[in-house]
Amino acid sequence: MRKPFIAGNWKMNMDSASAVSLAQGLVNEVGQCDGIDVAVCPPFVYLPAVATALSSSNISLGAQDVSEQANGAFTGEISCAMLKDVCCTYVIIGHSERRHVIGEKDELINKKIVAAINGGLLPIFCVGELLAERQANKTTTVVAEQVKKGLAGICSERIQAVTIAYEPVWAIGTGINATSEQAQEVHAMIRGLIGKLYDKTIASQMRIQYGGSAKPSNTAELMSQPDVDGLLVGGASLKVADFAAMVKTSFETKGVK
Ligand code: 13P
Repeated sequence: MRKPFIAGNWKMNMDSASAVSLAQGLVNEVGQCDGIDVAVCPPFVYLPAVATALSSSNISLGAQDVSEQANGAFTGEISCAMLKDVCCTYVIIGHSERRHVIGEKDELINKKIVAAINGGLLPIFCVGELLAERQANKTTTVVAEQVKKGLAGICSERIQAVTIAYEPVWAIGTGINATSEQAQEVHAMIRGLIGKLYDKTIASQMRIQYGGSAKPSNTAELMSQPDVDGLLVGGASLKVADFAAMVKTSFETKGVK
C-alpha cells in the first residue's frame, strides 16, 4: 500500500510574512494528518522560518532545487548538507521550469538526485513532456528517457528514497490539467518502466505524483486513478483553503487509514 503524498511547490512566490502565515494556516488545517504525507517547498530563503512554523506538525519541509556539489566555490548554489541543516526532508529535482527555463539537462538532474540521496534527502524527481511532444505521440519516449537518464546508476537499495512527479509541461500553470486517463496512462508506463529497471516490488512501492493545474476540483478524480499516488501542486498550494482541501480529499480518496 503506497501512502499518498501531496506536496506544495511554492515556486518563486511569497515573502517572509506570507510564507509563515501560509505554513501556520496549513498546520491548523492539516498539520496533524496521518495516513498521508504532506510537504511544502518554499523558496530557499524562507526555509528556516517555515521550518519553525511547521515544527509542531506532521507537515514536512522540502526545497525546490539543490546543487550536485557538496561545497566550495559555487556562487549562488545550495548544498544538500545546507538543506538538511535547515530541516528539509525532500527536494524537488528536475522541475520543468529548471529543465526548460534554466536549461538543466538529464545528466545534471541525475547528479543532483544522486547527491540528494547520498546526502539523506528524499528527491521528488520531475519528468514530463512538452505539448509538441505529446502532439507528436512522443510522450512515452520522452518521459521514459527522462526517467532512465535521471535514475542512471541508482541501485535498488537507494531508489526507495525517490518519488517521481509526472508533470506534463503543457499542464503546468495553464489551468489545463491532464485528464485522469492521460495521467493514469503515463503513471502506469512509468511504474512499468521502474519494474523493468528494478523489480516489481520496487515498482509497486514507488510513489508517483501528478502535477500540472491540480486543484481542489480535480483532486478526487486524479487521485482515484490506481497509479496516481499524490500531487505536486503549484498555484493551488499558495492558498491554505485550496491546499488543505486537496490534502483532505486525497486522504479520503486514498489515505492509509
Ligand atoms: P501548477 O499547479 O501551478 O500548474 O504547477 C504545477 C507545478 O509545476 C508543481 O511543481
